[in-house]
Amino acid sequence: MSSNPVFRPDDAILGAVKQARPTFWCNRDYRPSLDLSAQEALKDAITNWEMLAPLLERLFPELKTSGGGIASDLIEVEDLRDGLGYADPRFGRLFVKADHALPVAGSVKARGGVFEVMMHAVMQARAAGFLAPDDDITMLASQAAHDFYSRRTIAVGSTGNLGLSVGIAARTLGYAVVVHMSAEAKKWKIERLRRFGAKVVQHQGDYNLAVAAARDAASRDPLTYFVDDEDSELLFSGYSAAAQELASQLKDADIEIGPQRPLFLYLPCGIGGAPGGIAYGARGVFGPNVHCFFAEPVQAPSALVQMMHGAEKPISIYDVGLTNKTEADGMAVATMSGLVARHMQDRLAGVYTVGDDDLFRWVALAFNCLKMQLEPSAAIGFGGPHFLLNTEQGRTFCKTHIAPSAMANAVHVVWTTGGSFVPDLKFQDFVDRGDALDLESELMKDVGF
Ligand SMILES: Cc1ncc(COP(=O)(O)O)c(C=O)c1O
Repeated sequence: MSSNPVFRPDDAILGAVKQARPTFWCNRDYRPSLDLSAQEALKDAITNWEMLAPLLERLFPELKTSGGGIASDLIEVEDLRDGLGYADPRFGRLFVKADHALPVAGSVKARGGVFEVMMHAVMQARAAGFLAPDDDITMLASQAAHDFYSRRTIAVGSTGNLGLSVGIAARTLGYAVVVHMSAEAKKWKIERLRRFGAKVVQHQGDYNLAVAAARDAASRDPLTYFVDDEDSELLFSGYSAAAQELASQLKDADIEIGPQRPLFLYLPCGIGGAPGGIAYGARGVFGPNVHCFFAEPVQAPSALVQMMHGAEKPISIYDVGLTNKTEADGMAVATMSGLVARHMQDRLAGVYTVGDDDLFRWVALAFNCLKMQLEPSAAIGFGGPHFLLNTEQGRTFCKTHIAPSAMANAVHVVWTTGGSFVPDLKFQDFVDRGDALDLESELMKDVGF
């Protein structure tokens, strides 16, 4: 890591970041445009998901109704607008992309983890000569395939949800699974994985350390494949296809995204793979008319410091004096993926941060109004429209990139990334904690600039 990080001169918000206050950073390298490489990559991702669908349908009974697709609903959330402070029509339309209820793994990680495990299984079967390109892919669900995979291991580092996703997918095929968890990982996620037959190694250190330990252990065993959350093109590709799903849902709702109806995505960010992959896919589908913001806890803004510092110069949140302590376990990550930082250099509109209390407020609000079951990480997207419309930086961003008459037509999509697997008692604790807070969001009191 950089011992004496040098930030760029436009980064006047650095003081607020260091004080762990809610902050909004707009990327001055951001270039909304058509994106041919994102389009090509998205096409490949969709083709691969289509190839996997019959296998997924065979392996996971809950995917019968979707023909093997792992998809979530797009829900317009009128009932949340008052509570969030977005009742005014200038906030356009507000939607939730409900990955908190995604089948198989109960989080956005199903899109990346399941994809990488299944793609690896296909490649391994092809390399071993028992799956030809024209063969029926459902043979990978056979007893013979199960026996083959059971002699092999898949390893991953995780704050929890990636481990669940990779673990469930890999165990279902028959692989042995080792998940290296960070200190922040929640006990219920560890227990659930163990019930699936995964070996869980819990480290005292943070997430990047758990990933390094997993990588190191895997490198010593030729029969172990390592899902590398810091550097995985396959995870990234798996997530990206979500953008096509969103495009179809908007089309079904008769909503045409364009210069007069821009689309804003608010994406919870840890190491960056999930939000980065989705943002990349979104550029492929919506080109210059989508604007993606990452959202992070005030004590763990790894993407914010990395993107501010410049994508090519590694930096961690510890370099700016932050602690990585947050109840949003999925986003407790000190150092962003370099691969994602490079992909996002001119594709990411910006990053904002939110304190933990607001996450609990919004978890309680979403449950009390709509019975949505979110974990704290998954609620962070609800802060996005506030930063865009109520702050000086947000107004400058809109003046620069959006036609003046278009903002009131905008479509704001809050990506809710996990929660449906949280045990009921644990979830009730989240709601109680949110209900005990006063209603007004911290953002309204303390915007850090
Ligand atoms: C619920 C939830 N949201 C968001 C994220 C962030 O994803 P990524 O680490 O790929 O940025 C995670 C990561 O585990 C998560 O569990």
